[in-house]
Amino acid sequence: MHQELNQIFQNCLNHLKEAKSSKTNFHFPVIGSINNNEVELRTVVLRDFNEKNNTLVFYTDSRSPKINQIKNNPTVSFLFYDGVLKEQLRIKSKSTIHHNDDISLKHWEKIKPENRRDYASKNSPSSASNDISNYLEKNWIDNTGNYYQNFTVVYNEIVEIDWLVLNKDKNKRARFFIQESGFKGEWLVP
Ligand SMILES: Cc1cc2nc3c(=O)[nH]c(=O)nc-3n(C[C@H](O)[C@H](O)[C@H](O)COP(=O)(O)O)c2cc1C
Repeated sequence: MHQELNQIFQNCLNHLKEAKSSKTNFHFPVIGSINNNEVELRTVVLRDFNEKNNTLVFYTDSRSPKINQIKNNPTVSFLFYDGVLKEQLRIKSKSTIHHNDDISLKHWEKIKPENRRDYASKNSPSSASNDISNYLEKNWIDNTGNYYQNFTVVYNEIVEIDWLVLNKDKNKRARFFIQESGFKGEWLVP
């Protein structure tokens, strides 16, 4: 890869690595999935970026609609924007769902009991509710182990990064895409 492109690619990876910290502007990407023929977008928390296999990680409830969408079409897109650096990353990935396996257990054990509330709703997330003040299971905090069955980790292996930075004098844009030999890079017209 051309030296400057390679430097930009490494910066993208470093930026993603830092993004599991809530202090960074890349911590809350928007992810897109396909629901039949419609695009569905939502914000998630970026929980991790594994550099060894270029994998972005987020958590969700196994009953949430996005899970079936990802099962039907595992091509998930991520959108990151850092308003300070004026940098956008559009990432395409191939997703794998981890539910009731070693990987989901490893992540579940890291979650504090009070944060397991996100997986303690009586009914599926996104379903209609007649009793919204009681959407959680009763005494959920005493039984947080029960909600492991609702917890899912989604691993998203990067296949393409579209990087754009807005500069006062000149905008810059490049695309990095996976090949058998690793990532290749090319400049794009911004
Ligand atoms: C700041 C923020 C962070 C969020 N983080 C997550 C998350 O990590 N996982 C998740 O499933 N939903 C998260 N949500 C909620 C989703 O945006 C979305 O409303 C919900 O998951 C339902 O999506 P679905 O119906 O497409 O499955 C977050 C929302 C906000 C505003």
